[in-house]
Amino acid sequence: MKTTFDIAVLPGDGIGPEIMPQALAVLQAAACHAGVDLRCESFPWGAEHFLRQGEFMPTDGLATLRDFDAILFSAAGHPEVSDERASWEFVFQIRKQFRQYANLRPVRSYPGVPTPLRGNPAFDMLIVRENSEGEYAGPGGVLHREWENGVAIQTTVLTRAGVERIARHAFELARGRRRHVTNVTKSNAILHTMRFWDAIVEDVARDYPDVTTDLLLVDAATMKFVQAPGVFDVIVTTNMYGDILSDLGGALAGSVGLSSSANLDPTGGFPSMYEPVHGSAPDIAGQGIANPCGLILSAALMLRDLGQGEAADRIEAAVAAALAQGVHTRDLGGRASTAEMGAAVLQHIG
Ligand code: NAI
Ligand code: MG
Repeated sequence: MKTTFDIAVLPGDGIGPEIMPQALAVLQAAACHAGVDLRCESFPWGAEHFLRQGEFMPTDGLATLRDFDAILFSAAGHPEVSDERASWEFVFQIRKQFRQYANLRPVRSYPGVPTPLRGNPAFDMLIVRENSEGEYAGPGGVLHREWENGVAIQTTVLTRAGVERIARHAFELARGRRRHVTNVTKSNAILHTMRFWDAIVEDVARDYPDVTTDLLLVDAATMKFVQAPGVFDVIVTTNMYGDILSDLGGALAGSVGLSSSANLDPTGGFPSMYEPVHGSAPDIAGQGIANPCGLILSAALMLRDLGQGEAADRIEAAVAAALAQGVHTRDLGGRASTAEMGAAVLQHIG
């Protein structure tokens, strides 16, 4: 079995370079326990690089990343740089060129961390978001923009191959969890694309008789997130619904600073990228108070996909233990610094 992995590290901007050392220390400690050798190489790319060099990454940046087993990324963004350019010329380049069609966003509650929900219910769900087509595919246009007869059209694109591969990935993941998949859809109102989506998800479900399924309209899903988040296991949904639901999920968990994610090419043809859901948080950058847990948990997702499930479990348990112990950064209502939060997690790695 492979025990040496090459990891490309992208600390990015803002709080990124503050939280990355914490995540790397935890990652290396867990890897060391598992007898795994992680060779990490760091690249200073992003919006601050753009301010210095006039580009977000070198022209051969993607070719450089291509050779790594995985990418660990914080976030890109700087107040003096266009967010649109940072997204399209850097982050989306990696996601799109490396065919990262599956976006995984785990959403869970942690004992000791208050949620905004009455009674602090426990929940643990995994949102599997289609990441390459759907509502964000792009085709469309505007006619007579400034005129009374103006028309704007933006077309959702779903392909059988695209829906089938994300559905299959969701059902595979459910087998490692509580074996339930909820298809979040809107086929009562969006008759062409979403009925097509539902039919393909149903087809795929037949190949997984050991996994139960249900179907929920996205509007009903938002209510259930708030009223009974504990009922969800795996959610499979489209690009836009997944985007919206995962932000709702992040808020339910208590802070975006706890949310992790993976952008996967499940075929393994390209390296996958693991990153917290939050951005570069320029409002708190440089103060040493950012929560490193979202990035630390993203590193755990990376280890799991590299076949190091025990090391991943160890990191997730260490984060939960540190939070339960009451070590909380300011976003969670506590006073711990980035370094103190990281140190508490590291201590529980053992
Ligand atoms: P943001 O996630 O950076 O911040 C939103 C709020 O959450 C802020 O008040 C921030 O202080 C707080 N926050 C975020 N992460 C935190 C953490 N780890 N610990 C404690 N508090 C935390 O989102 P915002 O402000 O909309 O974007 C800031 C920049 O980040 C922009 O340039 C944006 O384009 C970029 N961005 C980049 C992403 C990426 O690279 N994938 C994703 C989202 C935003
Ligand atoms: Mg979003």
